[in-house]
Amino acid sequence: MVWGDESEAVAAALEWARARTVRASDPKTTARPPEELAEEVAEEVGEVITPEGIGAQRAMQIFTEILEPATRSQDDPMNLAYIPAAPTRASVAFDEAVASANIFGGLWETGAGAIFAENQVLTWITDMLGWPRSSGGCFVSGGTAGNLSAIAAARESWRTRHGRPEGGFKLACSSTAHSSVRSAARLLDMEVVPIPVDERDHLTGAAVADALASDPSIVAVVASAGSTNAGVVDDIDDVADAAHAHGAWVHVDGAYGGAGLCAPSAQDRFRGVEKVDSFTVDPHKWLFAPYDCCALVYRNPAQALATHSQHAEYLDNAERGKQNPADLAAHLTRRTRGLPLWYSLAVHGTDRYTQAVEMSLSTARAVAAGIKERSFLRLLREPELSIVVFDRPGWDWDDYVTWSNRLARDGVILCVPTRHKGAPALRLAFVNPETKAEHVLAILDSLAGSPDEANASPKHGPAGA
Ligand SMILES: Cc1ncc(COP(=O)(O)O)c(C=O)c1O
Repeated sequence: MVWGDESEAVAAALEWARARTVRASDPKTTARPPEELAEEVAEEVGEVITPEGIGAQRAMQIFTEILEPATRSQDDPMNLAYIPAAPTRASVAFDEAVASANIFGGLWETGAGAIFAENQVLTWITDMLGWPRSSGGCFVSGGTAGNLSAIAAARESWRTRHGRPEGGFKLACSSTAHSSVRSAARLLDMEVVPIPVDERDHLTGAAVADALASDPSIVAVVASAGSTNAGVVDDIDDVADAAHAHGAWVHVDGAYGGAGLCAPSAQDRFRGVEKVDSFTVDPHKWLFAPYDCCALVYRNPAQALATHSQHAEYLDNAERGKQNPADLAAHLTRRTRGLPLWYSLAVHGTDRYTQAVEMSLSTARAVAAGIKERSFLRLLREPELSIVVFDRPGWDWDDYVTWSNRLARDGVILCVPTRHKGAPALRLAFVNPETKAEHVLAILDSLAGSPDEANASPKHGPAGA
């Protein structure tokens, strides 16, 4: 046996994982520069990757004492930066089970049972979308991969029907679309046609109709179901009608906001999703699953199969009768990353998911209301989902950065600056049902004075205290 007895290495890793899964993460942990880490690791053990290996105990020691603390706590209830995460303990634990089963999830031939379970989750999603049971998809690593695969299918669908447009392939979206949409267009050699948003920051059907009427090379339109910066849900219904009138594909990027489909108080915003051609939602954002997980679904998977299926001599024996996840996105080998969500949904039931998403929505609404009550703050738009954007008149970008960095360092809150209509602002993204509006508002009170006063103010207790 080359590897010898690995039981000590297995026990060390699994014991740590078991304890970590149920322990709250430390909001004071923070990423650090590589030189600093290299020095610390070298001081601790010298070389780590060596011909003989350093053994399980030392490797785990480096990980637990140096490396993991040099990462940010994503699921702390006061981490409200970017899009944080709040996986259920059940989903995190099951990710460990999935890792140990090491299933090849690309082909039905190798991963049938696991793919069947993943498809049950996808059906939960497509039922919420109001799509037919003939729809389908697969799980990919994240919203970027999902958008890329969906837009590739959109382009291929046009090409098989009409060939390459004279002006080359073009994709239309608003400036509020996620950066990964523009990245996908670049990778697919598609020109991006920017469409102006209306006064509500929504992509509208009328604007899409205008763009398509003046540019017949637009083959796909991407709408957001929850823009990342402000949580805006575009006018999906009208956008779908306008795009389909020209035969263009409609992809809805719900990487962050798609979770709102579970919440009765937000469902109205998604009107029209039943018509669109592809949809993505990242369970690692607001559906309480661990990284990395994006559900990518197609109303008509045949178009995706024609785009993404890989063929090679050694693959010709693979059964293609079933919808293989490998054939539905830009990947071949894949882990069955939908299973942690499957387990958590099976354990907790979908009602709890509705409740958890509603909790983030009501926390966002309560914080927005609290901001409006504070004369020193200004709410920049009513939240449509669970992102709150506001500013502190009189403060500039550097003031926000200093305030934000200090509170992050003290483990109080992660609230990082952004821009709203070009001007510096602050932004809070709520995806964690444990976040309490009153804790957040108490911290925002430190914005009342001048930047100097705010930064000299007594330290707050740790997050959530
Ligand atoms: C709306 C939207 N789309 C796509 C993405 C990209 O997702 P990922 O980081 O999982 O690739 C994000 C990430 O925040 C997002 O908010």
